[in-house]
Amino acid sequence: MLKVLLCLFIFPLMAQNVLVTGGAGFIGSHVCKQLHDQGYTPITYDNLECGLESFVKWGPFVKGDLLDKQTLAATIKKYKPVAVMHLAAAISVRESTDNPSKHYWNNVVGTLSLLDAMREAGCDSLIFSSSCAVYGTPEKLPVVETTPYAPQSPYGRTKQMIETILKDYDDAYDIKTVTLRYFNVNGCDQDSGLYEQRSDQFHLVPLAFNAAFGGDQLKIFGADFPTADGTAIRDYIHVKDIASAHIKSLAYLEKNRRSDHFNLGTGHGFSVKGVLDTIEKITGKTVAADVVSRRPGEPSKIIADITKAKHILEWKPEHSSLENILGSYYHALKQNLLENKP
Ligand SMILES: NC(=O)c1ccc[n+]([C@@H]2O[C@H](COP(=O)([O-])OP(=O)(O)OC[C@H]3O[C@@H](n4cnc5c(N)ncnc54)[C@H](O)[C@@H]3O)[C@@H](O)[C@H]2O)c1
Repeated sequence: MLKVLLCLFIFPLMAQNVLVTGGAGFIGSHVCKQLHDQGYTPITYDNLECGLESFVKWGPFVKGDLLDKQTLAATIKKYKPVAVMHLAAAISVRESTDNPSKHYWNNVVGTLSLLDAMREAGCDSLIFSSSCAVYGTPEKLPVVETTPYAPQSPYGRTKQMIETILKDYDDAYDIKTVTLRYFNVNGCDQDSGLYEQRSDQFHLVPLAFNAAFGGDQLKIFGADFPTADGTAIRDYIHVKDIASAHIKSLAYLEKNRRSDHFNLGTGHGFSVKGVLDTIEKITGKTVAADVVSRRPGEPSKIIADITKAKHILEWKPEHSSLENILGSYYHALKQNLLENKP
């Protein structure tokens, strides 16, 4: 009886809130799902520029922009989150080169606005989504967290600038941040109906599936890299593993009250052609593709050293075989097509 009462009335009242900026986006929505599964209440804050309201399923939604410090501070005061997970950002590398103003305002100034709202509202724990783009083309692989910054795009520079700001805000205002440098995030939680879908798609996996099912031919940017098959090698990580690292980071911050940086990848790389071969095996279809010239600033290979996250966060990737990443995306795609069939 006591157990029933606790479950029905007491535990829900005790659930801790976590504010998730960008919670209506691809990765943010998966983070919200895992927060909910772990007994937290995710509060999504998103302007829906790229996110979908239908992805907000596990807690309250506040529609707002990072640059709106007042609404951010009011949201933090209202929900009193134990931490903020900051995923909201403009993420297209190409767009950042064409329109750096948008990226610097949105990502850098937007993060300043969030940090100042946190100060005003008395929240001092942050988990920040950074990127392997801060490393550019590292000389040594796998890349470790102490590798010097060398971003090669305005997008990567926004992440570097934010990391620098976070260090200063820790020193001056004691805001502690776990910075997670994601490598290439793909896959989806098959049971949740969430998967990467955006109108301005530029990621390899969704574009390749689209090409396999009669959409636009895929462009392979460069087949003359110094790799076994000539195409670029990347470290692909399942979005569920990225989400679980956020839960581990929350526990780390609670226990240690210390800022730190961690790579999130698998430590293994796959070439573009390797990814396309696996998609063809899974779907039984041919990925129509054409080789075009390399994009400037693209490394031939980048792979994470994840020793630090394994030891300190006690995290490891559990869903990130290439077959599982691509298979989960294919499953969600089929489900979605079936559900939306006239
Ligand atoms: N997808 C990857 O492979 C990858 C790799 C490294 C890092 N990251 C980082 O992970 C985070 C999430 O990426 P994603 O792939 O889920 O992208 P996404 O575009 O699906 O999600 C970003 C979300 O942020 C929201 N947003 C953007 N600017 C906002 C603003 N000013 N105010 C409020 N909401 C805003 C968008 O509407 C969207 O819902 C980003 O910070 C990105 O830089 C992603």
